[in-house]
Amino acid sequence: MKAAEMFSLKGRVALVTGASSGLGRQFAKALADNGAAVALVARRAGRLADLQKSIEAAGGRAMAVEADVTDRTAMARVFDAAEKAFGTVTILVNNAGVAQSGRATDMAAEEWRKVLATNLDAVFFCAQEAARRMLAAKTPGAIINIASVLGLSVAKGVAAYATAKAGVVQLTKAMAVELAFKGVRVNAIAPGWFVTEMNEEYLASEAGAAIKREIPMGRFGKEGDLDGALLLLASDAGHYITGATIVVDGGQVVAIRG
Ligand SMILES: NC(=O)c1ccc[n+]([C@@H]2O[C@H](COP(=O)([O-])OP(=O)(O)OC[C@H]3O[C@@H](n4cnc5c(N)ncnc54)[C@H](OP(=O)(O)O)[C@@H]3O)[C@@H](O)[C@H]2O)c1
Repeated sequence: MKAAEMFSLKGRVALVTGASSGLGRQFAKALADNGAAVALVARRAGRLADLQKSIEAAGGRAMAVEADVTDRTAMARVFDAAEKAFGTVTILVNNAGVAQSGRATDMAAEEWRKVLATNLDAVFFCAQEAARRMLAAKTPGAIINIASVLGLSVAKGVAAYATAKAGVVQLTKAMAVELAFKGVRVNAIAPGWFVTEMNEEYLASEAGAAIKREIPMGRFGKEGDLDGALLLLASDAGHYITGATIVVDGGQVVAIRG
């Protein structure tokens, strides 16, 4: 099969959480550019509407649905709306997430719960909702969870975030083995550092410059650097890949300091 055909998402329906900024915005654009109809989900409705317009102006199909991913009832309504407009969601990109910083000994219980609720609980419940619907519709599908290199290694000040992302990596494997026989693939992408609203201040600081010096490719990730991994996992090009976590980090996680 030709590469363009293998990677084509024509006729697929995707749902991207956290599409109002950063990585999620780019994931939605890449999916739409390659033929998928995309449901855009986040809390900032104005930004989703702008993205919908720009996808449509480029000839793609998208709809904006405002929702909080930690609200399971609202998310069920989002899947209903996407299904009504485009058909069963067959690609879920579980991307919405929040950052965290601060030492474990100083962390308030509310902060811990917020990070785990958004970065792990919501990932599970959205994946569960998507998988149940794919099974009911007897359609194959792809669930792509956005983990992080901090789910594989750790740094100081990210206990809740790293714990949630490590959970995402394990959840990906656990759901993959349960769903493989039904044709639903579950994979993860573990990005390294990408400058987004989540971390732009931190990465512009001296601490950010120090991180950059440790990245073998000598730079942070930029727009488009995750498109290849995303399209591989979303399309038929990745049809025998499940339970995997693809690291996209310019070599950072395998490098030893020095
Ligand atoms: N940037 C990096 O270096 C990096 C590295 C590794 C992994 N990641 C992961 O990549 C994902 C995207 O992060 P980003 O860097 O693109 O950050 P970002 O620009 O801050 O985007 C975060 C997105 O998540 C959405 N979101 C947060 N809480 C939500 C909630 N309760 N309900 C619905 N949407 C919610 C936000 O939308 P609203 O505020 O409009 O709701 C926003 O669209 C996250 O899972 C993050 O952990 C990022």
